[in-house]
Amino acid sequence: MVLLSQGREDAVRLTLGTGGARSQRGQEPVGTSRSWKRHGPASPLEPLEGTQLCQHVALIPVRPVSDACLQSPRSRQQSLNPPELVVTGSSGHRKRTQRVFRKDYVAGGSCPSKATILGKTVIVTGANTGIGKQTALELAKRGGNIILACRDMEKCEAAARDIRRETLNHHVSAWHLDLASLKSIREFAAKITEEKERVHILINNAAVMRCPHWTTEDGFEMQFGVNHLGHFLLTNLLLDTLKASAPSRIVNLSSLAHVAGHMDFDDLNWEERTYDTKAAYCQSKLAVVLFTKELSRRLQGTGVTVNALHPGVARTELGRHTGMHSSAFSSFTLGPIFWLLVKSPQLAAQPSTYLAVAEELEGVSGKYFDGFKEKPPAPEAEDEEVAQRLWAESARLVGLELSGGSSPQ
Ligand SMILES: NC(=O)c1ccc[n+]([C@@H]2O[C@H](COP(=O)([O-])OP(=O)(O)OC[C@H]3O[C@@H](n4cnc5c(N)ncnc54)[C@H](OP(=O)(O)O)[C@@H]3O)[C@@H](O)[C@H]2O)c1
Repeated sequence: MVLLSQGREDAVRLTLGTGGARSQRGQEPVGTSRSWKRHGPASPLEPLEGTQLCQHVALIPVRPVSDACLQSPRSRQQSLNPPELVVTGSSGHRKRTQRVFRKDYVAGGSCPSKATILGKTVIVTGANTGIGKQTALELAKRGGNIILACRDMEKCEAAARDIRRETLNHHVSAWHLDLASLKSIREFAAKITEEKERVHILINNAAVMRCPHWTTEDGFEMQFGVNHLGHFLLTNLLLDTLKASAPSRIVNLSSLAHVAGHMDFDDLNWEERTYDTKAAYCQSKLAVVLFTKELSRRLQGTGVTVNALHPGVARTELGRHTGMHSSAFSSFTLGPIFWLLVKSPQLAAQPSTYLAVAEELEGVSGKYFDGFKEKPPAPEAEDEEVAQRLWAESARLVGLELSGGSSPQ
């Protein structure tokens, strides 16, 4: 018998049996190996059953997560920590089981908020795969009207179909947005402004990492151009709508990699220096945090908040331009180790979901989160002068002051 005691209400199954037990829907054999599987928060449209009892497994949801909002900071912190696992009658397996289960929670666990967003309009960039797709799915489960903003419409339509099928939320649509093209960004923003009165949540998720020395349609270095400049322009063009929808939220996907970044204002676009794919990614992710800080300062009193986050390290397509993905040998040798150490996209989408919906974050702005925890970013990311300089330079590069696009104040 296994007793699972946890601070969240989402369903968790842990199987230690050898008797071919079946899942709660009776479809997946959970069989002979020691395995666990967990589900995200219940869809408002398709609630998960609360408690399951099957062979060797007792599943006990202990406390609704919305309690997290009412708890003291200390107990809330405890609720974010790995839950206790009590194993009886199976001491030989106890350590291994704890390790597997803790890996999941070390990786972050589920969004500790159960807030729903019924009828709210959400835009997620880069939502056809990886963390973006899973974030869109999590928010669709919570009842949002989701716009997937992607450059490849075939993949975008397919992702929208998957999400509609899985969540039974039919308010999930595919829109074209290429962040490597200022023209495409302006067209997307104009269409949103024309067709949507409200945008309550903007998730700036899309990114490219360590690609060759490519440039965007407008001649910007690709990582700086897509990861920072593209989202900078998009956000600014949507600000009037976001303000009209207040309280509204902007979530910017940065990365822990920002700590190794440095803003080289003499050569933001890597025209003078030898191109370094890693340094260019780190610079772009530092720019995302600086943008967050400056935007938050400019948005004070508007009811629009903006925060940046590191989602954790996840198994996604982000590494498609790195050696490991292109080398069959390293994929074969390092792949399994990588698999053990990193999050699933579903888990990596939990922090974005949390920043987008959590009631306890109402009014919180200009912060950097590592997973669910607010943390100080790198010192350069806290430098107001650098943030203001980056703002001015970004506005000049994307032609914001010439465009008549909405201004932050
Ligand atoms: N995975 C991690 O370990 C990790 C760690 C730290 C931070 N992050 C951040 O998390 C976010 C999501 O990353 P991920 O891991 O989910 O990566 P991913 O699987 O590679 O997904 C990236 C998404 O961005 C889209 N994209 C790229 N260029 C675009 C463009 N020009 N216009 C529009 N969309 C574009 C991609 O579209 P296509 O499929 O068409 O290319 C894809 O949908 C990123 O901001 C990343 O920096 C990830």
